[in-house]
Amino acid sequence: MALDDLLVANTTYGDETQIHGLLTDLRKNDPVHWTAPEGYRPFWSIAKHADIMEIEKLNDQFHNEPRSVLMNQEAEHNLAAMWGGPDPKTGRVSPLRTLIDMDGEDHRAYRGLTQAWFMPVNLRKGLEARTVELAKRYVDRMMELGPECDFAKDIAVYYPLHVIMSILGVPESDEMKMLKLTQELFGGGDPDMQRDREEGNSNVIADFFMYFNAMTEARRANPGEDLATVIANGKIGGAPLGPIETASYYIIVATAGHDTTSSSIAGGLRALIEHPDQLKKLKDNPELLNTAVDEIIRWVTPVQHFMRTNMGPDYTLRGKTIKTGDSLQLLYLSGNRDEEVWPDAYDFRVDRENNRHVAFGYGAHVCLGQHLAKMEIKAFFKELIGRLDSIEMTGPSKRVQSTFVSGLKTLPVRYKLRAA
Ligand code: HEM
Repeated sequence: MALDDLLVANTTYGDETQIHGLLTDLRKNDPVHWTAPEGYRPFWSIAKHADIMEIEKLNDQFHNEPRSVLMNQEAEHNLAAMWGGPDPKTGRVSPLRTLIDMDGEDHRAYRGLTQAWFMPVNLRKGLEARTVELAKRYVDRMMELGPECDFAKDIAVYYPLHVIMSILGVPESDEMKMLKLTQELFGGGDPDMQRDREEGNSNVIADFFMYFNAMTEARRANPGEDLATVIANGKIGGAPLGPIETASYYIIVATAGHDTTSSSIAGGLRALIEHPDQLKKLKDNPELLNTAVDEIIRWVTPVQHFMRTNMGPDYTLRGKTIKTGDSLQLLYLSGNRDEEVWPDAYDFRVDRENNRHVAFGYGAHVCLGQHLAKMEIKAFFKELIGRLDSIEMTGPSKRVQSTFVSGLKTLPVRYKLRAA
C-alpha cells in the first residue's frame, strides 16, 4: 500500500509497530506531509509536537468546522445524505453540532455552559469520593474474576463508562446501550466493533439522537441535579439550545468521556506490566501517581487525531504553504513521541516531570474532561497498585483498528490481588 493510503487505513492503527514506524518516518522525513489517499479529500498530516501546538493556538484562523475528524468521501456523503447536508454555508457534512464542530464565539458560549462542571474544584467537591468508591468496586470485581481476566473487556471499559453516565444522568440499565453505540461510532473501522455494513454509521447517530431527544424532554419537564439537566435547560443568548445542539452536546459528553479513559487505563496497565521496574517504582512511591497518570496518557494517546481547516490567509509551516481552505490532521500520537521534545520519547517513565504531551489537544478546544479523566485514572491505579501482588500477560493484546480513537480491545492477564 502507498504511504498516503497507509496513513488513513484503520488497520495501520490496529498495529502499534506499524503506526509508530510510519509516524517516526514522517517526523523525520516530511513532518508537514501532503496526504492524498484514494477515496479521501486530501489534507496535510502534521507530525511534530511544535507544529500541532502552533496550529491549535491559532484557533481563529484554523477552524474545526467544517472538517473536525477524518472520514472518507463515502462516509462524508452518507452522513450528509442523512440530513440533506452538507451545510451550504459552512460545508459541514455531519448532522451533529458538537463542541468539536464549533468555533469562535459560538464555541465559547456552548463550552461555557458546562465548563464549571469540569473544573477541578467542582470535581473534587462532587465527584472525587465517588470515583474512589467506583475504583474500589472495579478492582474488587477484578479480584472476583481472578486469577485471570481480559482486563480491557472485563474491567477497563466499565469503570469510566459508569462514571460519565452517572454524571450525565443516564440510568445504569441503559449503560450497555451507550457503550455499544460509542464503540460503533468510534470503532467504525474495526470489524469487531462495527455495525453491519448495510446500516452504517449514520444510523448510529440516529439512535443516539432518538435516545437523547427523549432525555431532553424528560429533563425539561422534571429538572434534576445531573449534567443532562444543565444541557437541556441551558440558554445561549437568552434562548434554549436547539434540538440538534442539545443532542450533540449529550453525545460528545457521553462518547468522549469513556472510551478514551478506558483506553488509557488498559494501555497504562499494559505499559506497567511491560516495564516491571516502573511498576515497582510506582508501588514503592505512590506519590508518583500524578506524574505516572500523565505519562500513561502520553504513552497511550487514545485520540489519534483531530482536524482543522485554514480559513485564510495562506499560512507557511516548515516552508510548506497551507492554502486557504486546506485541512490539516493533527497527529497527537506522533506529537507525543516527538524526539525533539523528549529524547527518550520511547521510554515509559512514571516519574516524568513537565510532561507537555498533547493527548488532550491544546488551545480553545483542549479536552473539557481532562481533569475528570486524570482523576479517574489516578483513583483506579491508586487502588490497584495498593493491592497488587503480581500481574502478567497471558496472551497478546489487540488494538482497535481506528484512525480516530484507538486503544486496547483485549488485554488478557493473570494476577494476584489482595482484599482492600
Ligand atoms: C484520557 C482521556 C481523554 C483524552 C485523551 C481526551 C482527548 C481529547 C482531545 C484530543 C480533544 C480535542 C482537543 C483539541 O481539539 O485541541 C478532546 C476534546 C473533548 N473532550 Fe476529551 N479526552 C479524554 C477524556 C474526556 C472525558 C472524561 C470527557 C468528559 C466528558 C471529555 C470530554 C471532551 C469534550 C467535551 C471535548 C470537546 C472540547 C471542545 O471542543 O471544546 N474527554 N478530548
